[in-house]
Amino acid sequence: MNTKPVPAEAPDLFSPITISGLTIKNRIIMPAFILNYPIDGYDISDEWLRFYRRRAKGGAGLIIVGACHVDPAGRQDEHQIGADRDEWLPSLEKVARAIKEGGAVPALQLNHAGRYAKKAINGGLDPVAPSALPSRYTKELPHELTTAEVEGIIESFAAAAGRAKRAGFEAVEFLGATGYLISQFLSPLTNQRTDRFGGDEEKRRTFIREVIAAVKREVGHDFPLIFRMSSTDNMPGGMDDADHRNFAIELEKWGIHLLNVTAGWHDAPVHQIGPSVPQGHFIPYATKIKEVVSIPVSCAVRITEPQMARQVIAEGKLDMVTLGRALIVDPDWPNKTQAGKDESIRPCISCCNCFDRAFARDRIECSLNADLTDDGSLPPAKPKKRILVVGGGPAGMEAARVLATRGHKVTLLEKNRQTGGRLGTAAAPPHKSEIAGLIRYLTHELAGLKVPVVAETDFSRLSENFDAVILATGAKERTILINGMEQVPCYTSSEILDGTVSPDNPVVIIGAGLVGGETADYLSSKGFDVSLVEIRPKPLADMGATLRWVLLDHLNKGGVNIHTSSSVQEIKDGKAVIQTLEGVITVPLGCLVISVGFESDDLLVGDLDRAGLPYCIIGDKKSPRRIKDAIHEGFLAATHWVDSI
Ligand SMILES: Cc1cc2nc3c(=O)[nH]c(=O)nc-3n(C[C@H](O)[C@H](O)[C@H](O)COP(=O)(O)O)c2cc1C
Ligand code: SF4
Repeated sequence: MNTKPVPAEAPDLFSPITISGLTIKNRIIMPAFILNYPIDGYDISDEWLRFYRRRAKGGAGLIIVGACHVDPAGRQDEHQIGADRDEWLPSLEKVARAIKEGGAVPALQLNHAGRYAKKAINGGLDPVAPSALPSRYTKELPHELTTAEVEGIIESFAAAAGRAKRAGFEAVEFLGATGYLISQFLSPLTNQRTDRFGGDEEKRRTFIREVIAAVKREVGHDFPLIFRMSSTDNMPGGMDDADHRNFAIELEKWGIHLLNVTAGWHDAPVHQIGPSVPQGHFIPYATKIKEVVSIPVSCAVRITEPQMARQVIAEGKLDMVTLGRALIVDPDWPNKTQAGKDESIRPCISCCNCFDRAFARDRIECSLNADLTDDGSLPPAKPKKRILVVGGGPAGMEAARVLATRGHKVTLLEKNRQTGGRLGTAAAPPHKSEIAGLIRYLTHELAGLKVPVVAETDFSRLSENFDAVILATGAKERTILINGMEQVPCYTSSEILDGTVSPDNPVVIIGAGLVGGETADYLSSKGFDVSLVEIRPKPLADMGATLRWVLLDHLNKGGVNIHTSSSVQEIKDGKAVIQTLEGVITVPLGCLVISVGFESDDLLVGDLDRAGLPYCIIGDKKSPRRIKDAIHEGFLAATHWVDSI
């Protein structure tokens, strides 16, 4: 961001803010996350408490717990905390207390999933909605609520808010965005009712207006109320940004105290959360909302850079910032930012593994943070050991970082001039540049910990004694033989992405997994004609659901021809002869790119066996996989494995 002069009286990211009498120590909100940690009946596991306490200790001012269902049919996940019954009170009290102990203000997000709920996870209860229209997201036909049933849900919101207050939460948030029941009442796409809850814009607002009024009757007029709203629904025919601005004016009139602006619906056919969405993309929408209301406004989605957060507050574009994934991956983001230690912040690379897990109803996981529920410190080394880490890719660097933080004496050996392993290549395709932030972070941390990084050196040239070795030398690209391939230039994906070769147009890529797909995206963005040939029936089969459709969309828009259930038989007369399900086709090619995965080898294993040293193999050296596996195994080797030898 450009740095503009800031007026002397401008607020600071770390100045307090008061919302309906509730003072929050800074301008940082952690939004609601479905965690999917275990729940036994109404009893949440300790992981819940550790997750929230840790993020409170990291310095966030306001922490929103949830989404929390207000009604059994409105549950969106099996392991979701609820506020629909008094039996939840002990769990809710524990969470609120943990957040306060950590130094933050706890708020509870109340939600009814409406037609986003699923019968299978809700004990056979039908999903419900304003009108019987299925969503693209779940494809289940919801039951159309009767007027009396709508009134019952309004009372459920009020009762749930009462429980939140009794449990010690200091505010409640309504999830009025992303396509859940409140959004479904507001939108003409999903609300075709003819009773008092449907009709024109004003009538479609009746549901939430009555919810807010009922909640106020229950918890008192001044109890802080937050509304999570969409900036625009991103649904053709749905509410746009102007509709949401008008709606914000009404929300203020009805007594909402803080607006927490986010992106559009889960059904939206628009990229909203992945790395192709520019950093801070929704801030201008939130700023326009701020211009029409006098209550504070925050904004979420793709805000990770400290300087951006500082600046939008200082320039008065927002009153608060909502940091989601930035606080999953590094709970200390607020404290580090306040201390000016921006380079020590572990970056979110927007890989969306956390979203994939949420959509798959698995417990939350972050690719770059192997322990989301730590207490803020690593167990000190007892005794201190001399550890050699061989290989300076993500697995080796993370292992070295954790070992050195614990007090072990570590040496990191890298045979190339630079560390980072395959991360440099992984950062090359369109919208993947944030991966480079991980190399910068690990390099910065290793330098701060004074870990000697011995570059351009082989294991065999070391004379020092070590107690143990961690082997993280990565994998090499697999290759295949095709008849006639010697007739055309033939490259690997890495050579293309590293820019070490100049491909000739048109390009045929064999292998449409993530790497092949990203190589195709990279080449098509540079104007090449690309064909992708995949032997399996599904392209990008190794990708998570959150970003797979986005890359497919890029490939389609880039004109990449994808041939699935197909294989290149031979190269003949400047053409690739491809066997498809429909028969044999030929595609002209200027070069062939092989992208059929990676393989590890046994190099150095024999040396270590002969040396009789304890060793463990991690990351791609063990078996080629994702960044997440490299980082998590690096962490585990530097904690559990080292302690076990
Ligand atoms: C694992 C996960 C679960 C989420 N669950 C919720 C939720 O229950 N309620 C909600 O309003 N937003 C939920 N979100 C969205 C986040 O609150 C946030 O808006 C989103 O991550 C975008 O912000 P970010 O780019 O700062 O991460 C979830 C996000 C993630 C990653
Ligand atoms: S899993 Fe990926 S997107 Fe999610 S917080 Fe971690 S780094 Fe960010």
